[in-house]
Amino acid sequence: MENLKKDIEKVLFSHEEIVVATKRVAEQITEDYKDSEKDPVLLCTLKGALPFMAELMKQLDIHVVTDFIDVASYHGGTESTGSIILRKDVTMDLENRDVIVVEDIVDTGRTLKHLITYLKERNVKSVACASLVDKPEARLIDVQADYIGVISPNEFLVGYGLDYEERYRNLPYIGVLKEEIYK
Ligand code: IMP
Ligand code: MG
Repeated sequence: MENLKKDIEKVLFSHEEIVVATKRVAEQITEDYKDSEKDPVLLCTLKGALPFMAELMKQLDIHVVTDFIDVASYHGGTESTGSIILRKDVTMDLENRDVIVVEDIVDTGRTLKHLITYLKERNVKSVACASLVDKPEARLIDVQADYIGVISPNEFLVGYGLDYEERYRNLPYIGVLKEEIYK
């Protein structure tokens, strides 16, 4: 694991820290859902939340079913609050289901906000969100994840699902890229 590391300025969250944080999130979700009538759907947002989803589902001690969605909001580009871009829709009927959105990161909050609106239009019974990373200083829309793995400073992160131009998702940790990579 020394080859890709050459591009990394610093590691913010090690693989071990991420696993511990995910375990804590899984315990909270298990506690909140185990005695309820809830029959949750774990809804993984592609592609970034894939590694978190894989770890989280293995740590949940309740029945869950899984589904996947791929959405984008206008991120980083020109200022826009345009609606969600749906690249891949869910396959299940989510009407009257308890949905737990599994996110990689809540940054400005646009994507999560759009996703919650979209799911409510689908008449879900409830919607909660588990996000591996929260970047509270970057928030532009007032929205919060219900379950948070780690809290990050306002830096651009890569690894454990998070990408820079589609690369670095496969790093087992979360870090910050060296400046020369952006140039
Ligand atoms: P938001 O809509 O601004 O909250 O951003 C959500 C999406 O932007 C995430 O699902 C990521 O795909 C992407 N994103 C936000 N911050 C970062 C980052 O630090 N590194 C990589 N992707 C990010
Ligand atoms: Mg993403």
